[in-house]
Amino acid sequence: EVIDAEGCTVAPGLVDTHVHFRDPGLTYKEDVATGAASAAAGGYTTVICMANTKPPLDDAEALKDLRRRESDLPIHVLNTACVTRGMKGQELTDMDALKAAGAIGFTDDGLPIKDVKLMMRAMERARELGVPISLHEEDPDLIGSPGINQGRISKEVGVPGAPAVAEETLMARDCLLALHTGARVNIQHLSSGVSVEVLRLMKRLGADVWAEVTPQHFSLNEEIVLEKGTLAKVNPPIRTEEDRYQLIRGLKEGVIDIIATDHAPHASEEKAQDLLHAPSGMIGLETALALGITNLVRKGHLTLLELLEKMTARPAELYGLSCGSLREGGDADLVVFDERESWTVGSRFFSKSSNSPFTGMTLYGRVKHTLCGGRVVYTDGKDVR
Ligand code: NCD
Ligand code: ZN
Ligand code: ZN
Repeated sequence: EVIDAEGCTVAPGLVDTHVHFRDPGLTYKEDVATGAASAAAGGYTTVICMANTKPPLDDAEALKDLRRRESDLPIHVLNTACVTRGMKGQELTDMDALKAAGAIGFTDDGLPIKDVKLMMRAMERARELGVPISLHEEDPDLIGSPGINQGRISKEVGVPGAPAVAEETLMARDCLLALHTGARVNIQHLSSGVSVEVLRLMKRLGADVWAEVTPQHFSLNEEIVLEKGTLAKVNPPIRTEEDRYQLIRGLKEGVIDIIATDHAPHASEEKAQDLLHAPSGMIGLETALALGITNLVRKGHLTLLELLEKMTARPAELYGLSCGSLREGGDADLVVFDERESWTVGSRFFSKSSNSPFTGMTLYGRVKHTLCGGRVVYTDGKDVR
């Protein structure tokens, strides 16, 4: 088969360190097959699933079963497992058994671990096992607090969500624990400008700390909720224009290593509830590359190569993955895209869900083909959603 890549960029397949495929237990929102199709359409050939499934992925046998089902998907779907049993923050999982069953790291995404000694023990074990811990940093005790450093609009509209200080305090603590344990820690979906400065300091002190930023946090500011309502409700909340600017600066200066989607599908009936009751999260796999090209590359913040590094080589390095095209002699894991082609985001996706605040927006950069393991797994216009 001949692939026409005239005028296109050919890059390693994208790697996403942060997706929710809801499998098992919440498969009315997404399952590993629809999640993989959504990923392939977005140019991704490797994704790492979060463990807040139903039940949470805290058991080696359940992980083995999931790994079997993931083995014949068109792209590489990998898993992190829970740090604590039932994601309750009280007792560590059998991290050795979970790693042996295929976990490439640990996370309790959605629920932060308040117990500092437990967190320290988890980091020590992860270091011994040679895998990273990925953390959702949001101190629940500060949610609904007076809203110190919460933006003007969030305050006015009453968007539920943690103020920036809830992220900053916990991520500072965990960076310090990383420094003292030697663990590799990934701060997930960094959202505040102050967090970027804390991270900068911690890296300078020698902590093995990494951070993700999502396309929604570098593309949008808090005003989006006025227009999009619950579709713009996400954890952490979309913050101020100043925060957005600092996140972009963090990307540009190399303080933030990774662009990850936090692809979080929810059913339309769930998102049809009011701002207080609708679940948090938005899908992201099918718009991430175009948001990076439109809002980072075309605005002159990053070169295309810098963008691609944060969507391929850096995330692979965090987890020690040597996937496809990032390895000499490996099978072709590739994305072919046209940087200049513009398109308008529709309301239907390969994902089972369609909770995107980007529907209706015109973006630059269109995925033409995705190849994984040497096979074409997606072609623009050929695969129909
Ligand atoms: C996540 C989800 O839906 O699983 N939602 C989100 O807004 N990012 C969980 C979470 O991180 O709160
Ligand atoms: Zn999270
Ligand atoms: Zn998440």
